[in-house]
Amino acid sequence: MSGSQYRARKSVADIVAGSEGGGHQLTRSLGAISIIAIGVGAVIGAGIFVLTGTAAARHAGPGVMLSFMLAGLVCAVVGLCYAELAALIPASGSTYTYTYATLGELAAWIIGWDLVLEYAMGAATVAVGWSGYLVSLLRQFGVELPPELIHSPGAVQLADGSTIQALFNLPAAAIVLALTAMLVAGTKESARFNNLIVLVKLVVVIAFVGFGVAAVNADNWVPFIPENTGEFGQFGASGVLRAASVVFFAFIGFDAVSTAAQEARNPQRDMPLGILGSLLLCTLLYVAVAAVLTGLVPYTLLNVPDPIALGVDVIGKPWLSLLIKFGALAGLTTVILVLLYAQSRIFFTVSRDGLLPAMFSKVHPRTGTPYLSQISIGIVVALIAGLFPIHLLGEMVSIGTLFAFTLVCGAVIHLRRTEPHVPRPFRVPGVPVVPAIGIGLCLLLMGGLPLDTWLRLVIWLAIGMAIYFMYGRHHSVLGRRLPRG
Ligand code: ALA
Repeated sequence: MSGSQYRARKSVADIVAGSEGGGHQLTRSLGAISIIAIGVGAVIGAGIFVLTGTAAARHAGPGVMLSFMLAGLVCAVVGLCYAELAALIPASGSTYTYTYATLGELAAWIIGWDLVLEYAMGAATVAVGWSGYLVSLLRQFGVELPPELIHSPGAVQLADGSTIQALFNLPAAAIVLALTAMLVAGTKESARFNNLIVLVKLVVVIAFVGFGVAAVNADNWVPFIPENTGEFGQFGASGVLRAASVVFFAFIGFDAVSTAAQEARNPQRDMPLGILGSLLLCTLLYVAVAAVLTGLVPYTLLNVPDPIALGVDVIGKPWLSLLIKFGALAGLTTVILVLLYAQSRIFFTVSRDGLLPAMFSKVHPRTGTPYLSQISIGIVVALIAGLFPIHLLGEMVSIGTLFAFTLVCGAVIHLRRTEPHVPRPFRVPGVPVVPAIGIGLCLLLMGGLPLDTWLRLVIWLAIGMAIYFMYGRHHSVLGRRLPRG
């Protein structure tokens, strides 16, 4: 086996041509609205409905508004880079595909493996949040689910003080399996469902901001950034930074748009539009929600699993409280749906390159979806969602995503040098400075995450390396075309 295989790159022309041919073909069924809805569908979810409160109460106070702006800025820079690459290389596979064209096969595999953290693990994380909201909504209607079946395995203390041994988070696993069934049935049908639910969640978020503004007590915004307690990350400037690392999770998913490139009717126009449009919309809404929430409730009280519901109590409209819970549940549903979708499209591309078995790119003759892959992903994600707690999953998702984002920024700089003449329908302004700023900002946010999360990332990547050396390098389509050394 020649060492050059690991560094072998695919040319942009090869990737585009490869995505159009072969027996494993996806259908171009998605228009601009569906593409933007994929972005918004994946983005607005557990981040805004759950983490805003934690970030304000523990790290930044009302200054969490600034944290959202900082995280939004990081994503805007990365989003510009994604937009350039997604329009230039309109093939499924996202960062994986871009890396194959820049750093070569081994790095591409590593990033494809890393993206499992963002998409599959992300779907599991949000499914656990979904289960929490369902339980609380059902409780409002007087329905109690057995406590053993709504938590990951381990001892759980109940409200009455007794302790039980939880076995499995059944609602979390069930929602993953239900959405998997929908994705297997058809992309167009799933996109229609997604468009509808995205509308519901937008209405809910806007209703919260609209009704909330009138009830804001400006005294709650003072002090805007509470004084640092003497410990890094607890209020003050470092607290705003730490809170930005936490709420970064709320932005994850805008890049899922890029995994739909091969199913977009007009990828050159709609990829940049979908990525930047959904990002702009979400950032504006997030800052507005953070401003209203911290204006309604003193930040010290916000460290709860359902902070938005707490804000609604202050507004004093009981019907709105119910609507918000429904909206949150709907919001979380589309996040899981899009992340599961994105994961299967990444595996689709990796499998067509031979780095995963062919079953991952087998498309169903009638539904046109990669059904075997989607079903396998669904089963594994359902098990993870049923077995692990939310905080453990969430930090892995953030670090994995930030790692992928640094490579996307790097790929823009690299490709401008190696393939300067390929037509670029969308161009990042100020290359290389702007992507370099993106890399710096991602590393800054990664620095805000705990050491054991870094260690888990290293272990995860080591497992990926082992799979590549045991399977991928022997089956690589590109590798087979190279002269043996
Ligand atoms: N951005 C997504 C969420 O907040 C992952 O749930």
